[in-house]
Amino acid sequence: MSDDFLPFSRPSISQAAIDDVVACLKSGWITTGPRVAQFTDALKDYFHAAHALPLMSATTGLHFALLAMQLEPGDEVITTPLTFAATLNSIVLAGGKPVLVDIDPTTLNMDLNLLEEAITERTRVIIPVHFAGLPVDLDWLYEIANKHGLRVLEDAAHAMGSEYKGKRIGSFGDTQVFSFHPNKNMTTGEGGCVVTRDQELAEQIARLRFHGIDRQAFNRYGKNGSQDYEIVMPGFKSNMTDIQAAIGIHQLKELAGFITRRNELAARYQEALADWQQWTLPTAPAYEHLHSWHIYTPLLNEEAAKMNRDEFMLAMKEKNIGTGLHYRAVHLYPYYRQAFDFKLGDFPKAEDVCERIVSLPLFPSMTDADHDRVLDVMYTIFN
Ligand SMILES: Cc1ncc(COP(=O)(O)O)c(C=O)c1O
Repeated sequence: MSDDFLPFSRPSISQAAIDDVVACLKSGWITTGPRVAQFTDALKDYFHAAHALPLMSATTGLHFALLAMQLEPGDEVITTPLTFAATLNSIVLAGGKPVLVDIDPTTLNMDLNLLEEAITERTRVIIPVHFAGLPVDLDWLYEIANKHGLRVLEDAAHAMGSEYKGKRIGSFGDTQVFSFHPNKNMTTGEGGCVVTRDQELAEQIARLRFHGIDRQAFNRYGKNGSQDYEIVMPGFKSNMTDIQAAIGIHQLKELAGFITRRNELAARYQEALADWQQWTLPTAPAYEHLHSWHIYTPLLNEEAAKMNRDEFMLAMKEKNIGTGLHYRAVHLYPYYRQAFDFKLGDFPKAEDVCERIVSLPLFPSMTDADHDRVLDVMYTIFN
């Protein structure tokens, strides 16, 4: 057994990024400044979007976007039970009520066949999650949203680099939120961004991001001096720093290479595991798309594996291989059961998937030898 622990995810930080962080630290300007401005422009170019707003996290992005959409108490926001708690927490923190739609167990994305029946007169926003980086069928989703006059906030935390019908996620539609957490497709340490084509929404998020400050309001009222400002509302403090942006500028340039390697590794798993009875493998939808493979998540078939998912994860760990759990069904956490009356059985497909799902190691610097090691260890565990 190898003594090295192989994690399920590891960031790839280039020497150029490290050098730029050092240059930033030496420059005397380490908070929001020229590098955040450069990163913002690079994101706008990348997405061909009018507005891109770097922030401290995707969680903040979801929260601020929903605050800017001005939910009234009792307004409903529809999302999926197969997501990180941040998606639902943001809805609640913005004053909304989470309404869930079960998943399609083949794509692990929201089952759009069930979406319309969840829409009520209180529904305001739909939050599709591009799970693992597999794009939701956005033509279909926007058709439903437009028919009912609803906003769409895409939780694209997993989907940096993903494409739907030849277009980048983030380059069209209403509003998207991306994560730059260390295990995501690209990182800034911690971080995220909102991308939108809605100028008012972007301006409101910019105010929420930094104390409710509006420099334009100050300028409009006639005084000079860029140091001064007006507070037009109570805001938060969630601006990205130049240290983070120094990493992000390089990560964005390297992203296409990361996605290529993620696709190679996912294809290698798909091929190697095709005949293993212990797994149900991810399947691709018929529409044209580019998967970014943020995570590779087969479902364990307990009977064939002769163990459950938690036992499998433990066995892998004992053999020095890390795995991830994305996610436990979010509606079954105590807060959501108590506050919104969710219970076991409400979303049976997501509940089944959440009992069986495992994230196997996959990250751009993973070698073919690392990959073979994962397969060998799984083989010994099952046989
Ligand atoms: C689906 C989803 N949404 C939102 C988030 C929040 O991202 P962040 O950690 O950048 O706040 C995550 C993070 O894991 C996520 O997986």
